[in-house]
Amino acid sequence: MRLKNKVAIITGAGSGQGKASAKLFAKEGAKVVIVEWNEENGKQVEQEIIDEGHEAIFIKTDISSEENVRSVIDQVVGKFGRIDILFNNAGIGFSARSKYKMASLMETPLEDWNKIMSINLNGVYLMSKYVLPIMIEQESGNIVNNSSLNGILGVTGADAYTASKGGVVALTRVMAVDYGKHNIRVNCICPGAIDTPMIAEVLDNEKIAKNFATNPLKRVGKPEEIASAALFLSSDESSFITGLIMPVDGGWSAV
Ligand SMILES: NC(=O)c1ccc[n+]([C@@H]2O[C@H](COP(=O)([O-])OP(=O)(O)OC[C@H]3O[C@@H](n4cnc5c(N)ncnc54)[C@H](O)[C@@H]3O)[C@@H](O)[C@H]2O)c1
Repeated sequence: MRLKNKVAIITGAGSGQGKASAKLFAKEGAKVVIVEWNEENGKQVEQEIIDEGHEAIFIKTDISSEENVRSVIDQVVGKFGRIDILFNNAGIGFSARSKYKMASLMETPLEDWNKIMSINLNGVYLMSKYVLPIMIEQESGNIVNNSSLNGILGVTGADAYTASKGGVVALTRVMAVDYGKHNIRVNCICPGAIDTPMIAEVLDNEKIAKNFATNPLKRVGKPEEIASAALFLSSDESSFITGLIMPVDGGWSAV
């Protein structure tokens, strides 16, 4: 029970890494708030956690909307009175189902660039902006951001995505520096290729799938492996760690 009675908000918890984290955090004793814009998936994860005998609530939210974010934080504080953990996990990218064009800079329309930024980077900014005052008042808090290997390497072909994830890395460092004095830790995970719905179609392409498994461990990662990293960074086991940019990538970034 590494998160006993902690109130943990997880964005994008209706699928993939966020879902795996929601289930793990709940198992470890957290009251989990599922912040997700896909209603069907959000409700489903809420029900699964409750059926497993743990506590969760789903709040339909678009993290790129300031109105939505303000409302979700008000609801969480109204219900639980505090916020201990924020896992800024939600993001869009790569999926063939993505409404926005993942391409090199010259081929990226401004509209798509702005939309990708508004979720992947602005979403982290907005959620943090409204959670930080609560954490400052509590004099404790823990924020984990989900970036990507794209945030630290020049991975081509999705330049808006890559820039947004680089922004998340930079934001993590400056937040750790700014808010450490309030006993708030801020860390960042940089996943390599992880087998979630986001890259399902990409993994169906044999050539790309093979390339994704060229890391030292010779395989793609599982969402549960990101959830374990998020749990470590969210728990007291990492109490002296802040400002860390942590690849969880089968060693891809070490090559
Ligand atoms: N899968 C990978 O290979 C991989 C690699 C590196 C980084 N990441 C990052 O990991 C994070 C989790 O992705 P995943 O792989 O679990 O993908 P996923 O598509 O399975 O899950 C992402 C979730 O975020 C939600 N979401 C997206 N935009 C939202 C918004 N505006 N408001 C609320 N919810 C929103 C989606 O509905 C979805 O449930 C993302 O930030 C992604 O960029 C993924």
